[in-house]
Amino acid sequence: MKSYFVTGTDTGVGKTTITAAIAALLRKHGIDVGVMKPIATGVTQKNGFRSEDVALLHAAAQVKDDEKTVNPVFLPLPTSPYDASKILNVKIDMSPVFERYEYLAKSHQMVLVEGIGGIMTPITKDFFVADMIKQMKLETIIVTRSTLGTINHTVMTIEMCRKYQIPVKGLVINYFDENGTHAERNAPSTLHEITGLPILGTIPFVKDYQKPEVMVDIVEKNIDLNALIS
Ligand SMILES: Nc1ncnc2c1ncn2[C@@H]1O[C@H](COP(=O)(O)OP(=O)(O)OP(=O)(O)O)[C@@H](O)[C@H]1O
Ligand SMILES: [Mg+2]
Repeated sequence: MKSYFVTGTDTGVGKTTITAAIAALLRKHGIDVGVMKPIATGVTQKNGFRSEDVALLHAAAQVKDDEKTVNPVFLPLPTSPYDASKILNVKIDMSPVFERYEYLAKSHQMVLVEGIGGIMTPITKDFFVADMIKQMKLETIIVTRSTLGTINHTVMTIEMCRKYQIPVKGLVINYFDENGTHAERNAPSTLHEITGLPILGTIPFVKDYQKPEVMVDIVEKNIDLNALIS
């Protein structure tokens, strides 16, 4: 089975939410899915895993892999990894990232890897998320929005994938509002027309969203899982 790198057009677009829901769903269908957030930054959580994203992914996939495997690099500042490393005066070592990914790929049927920020988020001054995806040899899923501005961000993300020769499986459009503006309602068809990529799913905006299980149901109804596992 293929593994995927889930990236997005920017931070907060829904990478963790969608990745966790897909992982939970794959597990429900009896697939042994591993999860990874190679590099996380942000406020250290008081309990459990340092990164909230890692906690959500780990719980959703119901894996037993330890924190250093699921998240080899954590920097306790809500910035890009490059900025965090400069401010904290630490050097980011990428070798555990690739080693741990290889381990996870061997121990599970497939792995879902969540990126950080977008495709050109800097890890070092001259090594970006795109370089990491390329080195992991993964196909990517791009999570995007349906609000105004998404065409520009999505096309730029896809163009960078093409430049790096990263294959793109398709787009997941998050925060879709069927009663939204013309731009929002047209976003799925326009993005498909312009990019030629499959729309793997369109996920509605969920008011007062709190519970991951709600998103699992929504993803089950709106994303074609077979397209990901075949
Ligand atoms: N469809 C949705 N409806 C309502 N809320 C959502 C939806 N998708 C995501 N959210 C919420 O939006 C916020 C950002 O989502 P999420 O953390 O998944 O983004 P991300 O791309 O992983 O961000 P980061 O770049 O920080 O990793 C979260 O609070 C999440 O619960
Ligand atoms: Mg996230």
